[in-house]
Amino acid sequence: MGTGTVESVREQEQLGDDSGPAVRIVGVCGSLRATSATKRAVSVALDGTSPHAASTGLIELRNYQLPFCGQMAEDEYPPDVSRLRQELRDAHGIILGTPEYHGSLSGALKNMLDLMGAEEFEGKIVGLVAVAGGHGGATNSLNTMRMIGRNLHSWVLPQEVSIADSAQAFNADGSATDPAIEKRLLNIGAQVVRLASLQERIREDDFMAMWEGLPTW
Ligand SMILES: Cc1cc2nc3c(=O)[nH]c(=O)nc-3n(C[C@H](O)[C@H](O)[C@H](O)COP(=O)(O)O)c2cc1C
Repeated sequence: MGTGTVESVREQEQLGDDSGPAVRIVGVCGSLRATSATKRAVSVALDGTSPHAASTGLIELRNYQLPFCGQMAEDEYPPDVSRLRQELRDAHGIILGTPEYHGSLSGALKNMLDLMGAEEFEGKIVGLVAVAGGHGGATNSLNTMRMIGRNLHSWVLPQEVSIADSAQAFNADGSATDPAIEKRLLNIGAQVVRLASLQERIREDDFMAMWEGLPTW
């Protein structure tokens, strides 16, 4: 699976905004296809973080050499497993994107999630987007990802985006053909970054309160 290279195809720094602590938001594209609609959906969602203090990265699973979970002992896993774990541990918020495959999420994304665990996901804000080739959309994948998020003890946003008719869903410039879908995707990114920033602010405030409460001797 994958080409063996670890690469975040898009890396953008959007620091400098004083609306909250700087946080890192990563998107995961659960399709291995080069011309993936899922990748476009996740990219637009990441664009939604832009008014806020955040750095973002897009993780394309096609660029990671991942074994199947359980295929070998953990200490024999290829380095891409620990590199992926580190990228997710470094993130304060995560946007998961999947194609709908036979009424569920892709095997590539499920396997990646099986290789990860609480350290990567617990307590983190997670946004969900999914695309489907058919008219019915991708609500089955979204429901399954929501269940997985619950098992990983993530805070999964109630908002989510299901995109139907994936072949017609995006323009050549990467924007969604339906302005309502574009807005919903941007909103996922905005919600993830807002809530992740809020979590960090609370952590900082707690730290300051504890610091100020320390004895001065
Ligand atoms: C194995 C497989 C199963 C699929 N199952 C469904 C499905 O159940 N419902 C649907 O609407 N589309 C289905 N599709 C179509 C994909 O959802 C669609 O092609 C989507 O754009 C793929 O995502 P991608 O462009 O990000 O690679 C399936 C495609 C494949 C390859």
